[in-house]
Amino acid sequence: MPELPQEILMDIFALLEIPDLVRAGSVCSSWNNAYTRIRNIGQQKQAQTPCLLYTSESAGENVACLYSLAEKRAYKLTLPEPPIHRRYLIGSSDGWVITVDERSEMHLVNPITSEQIALPSVITIEQVEPIYDNTGAICKYNYSMDTKMSVTRRPLTLSLGKLRYYFHHKAHIFYDASVGSYIVVFIHNPFGQLVFARLGDEKWTRLSSSYTNFQDCIYQDGVLYAVTAFSEIIAFDLSGPVVGAKIIMDRVSDFYGRERVYIVQAPWGDMLQVWRPEAWINEEVDGHRHEATFEHKMKWMKIYKVCTVTKKKLVQMNSLDDHVLFLGRNQSLCSHAREYPQLKPNHVYLTDDVELVEYSCERGYRLNIGVLNFENKSFEEIILPRPWSNCLAPLFIVPNPRKMDLALHT
Ligand SMILES: *[C@@H]1O[C@H](CO)[C@@H](O)[C@H](O)[C@H]1NC(C)=O
Ligand SMILES: *[C@@H]1O[C@H](CO)[C@@H](O)[C@H](O)[C@H]1NC(C)=O
Repeated sequence: MPELPQEILMDIFALLEIPDLVRAGSVCSSWNNAYTRIRNIGQQKQAQTPCLLYTSESAGENVACLYSLAEKRAYKLTLPEPPIHRRYLIGSSDGWVITVDERSEMHLVNPITSEQIALPSVITIEQVEPIYDNTGAICKYNYSMDTKMSVTRRPLTLSLGKLRYYFHHKAHIFYDASVGSYIVVFIHNPFGQLVFARLGDEKWTRLSSSYTNFQDCIYQDGVLYAVTAFSEIIAFDLSGPVVGAKIIMDRVSDFYGRERVYIVQAPWGDMLQVWRPEAWINEEVDGHRHEATFEHKMKWMKIYKVCTVTKKKLVQMNSLDDHVLFLGRNQSLCSHAREYPQLKPNHVYLTDDVELVEYSCERGYRLNIGVLNFENKSFEEIILPRPWSNCLAPLFIVPNPRKMDLALHT
């Protein structure tokens, strides 16, 4: 086969979706060279179609499945220990997934490169107290639900794997260009509190104890914008030695638990809030009563533009026009549909991010996953039959083949 010059190969490879790019890299040594160079300089196609990442009983303990929405097929990826199938997936951004293992400890994993980085231990957060056995190993945790705002209660004593069931909610990783390093933001219970750590930190640092009930966040130019269940937005300036906090959007809603709230950066410059209805119903299946989500309540999903000038203004949007939204435990994404020819404009792709998912599942809760047509509000499955394990929702991820140490040193 006559060889194409490296530059031409690289130009072609820079147009590929990650699964194709990785496959192209295994064809021959010259293609592998071009692939490695693309990856090292981070020059892969920027508008990668999001994929769904999940595990299933049949795939094996250490295998994650990456379902390409562009190709409508799944790839199997073998990941390092501990077994990915037994971890919770609580966040993704920038190609990284944040997982919680059976000791309730967290790792960052890049499923494409298999890189894995341990995050600071949960016992560095004040609500978690380790309990040691006679060999000096941690055998349980005491989980305290005390905050400045609530009365003192006895802590819950939980097995290592059970803490995550109550404690962990959502986490994101952001690249901070100003200091050239990554920062991980973690929303934990009780009451959706925010802590963060820079890679290499030994412990988590609380962002603020005066604000709680956080549900989602985004990061821009050294500022973390975090939204609460009441649609307040607090801006935390992380660029200086002392974190400054200021409210940029006042409380709008007074109800807790009626909808989940997401904050999204729109490609046209606006900041958006999405309110996703969270009403459950009891339904009867096989003679048993079950809790299930109201799929048809999805039609009451609301999307707003945030007007930060007046601090109290949300402008409802009736259409996403040519845009698509991806919601779940991933960093919320809004993109122009022309970047993803296989996806539908004015549709919301969503996976479940209910809290206490195992608890809910045991009571018959069905994961709410699908595609909402925002025009006529019809709701469809993304993949049928659902290939993931019953109680663990898949996660949207934008694959990134770049190794972290390379990203950090350029
Ligand atoms: C854990 O909590 C229980 C009460 O629920 C208490 O008796 C025990 O001393 C606590 N242990 C530690 C190590 O804090
Ligand atoms: C909504 O629109 C889609 C695509 O145009 C169509 O296939 C579907 O039947 C419509 N559903 C309803 C409930 O109108």
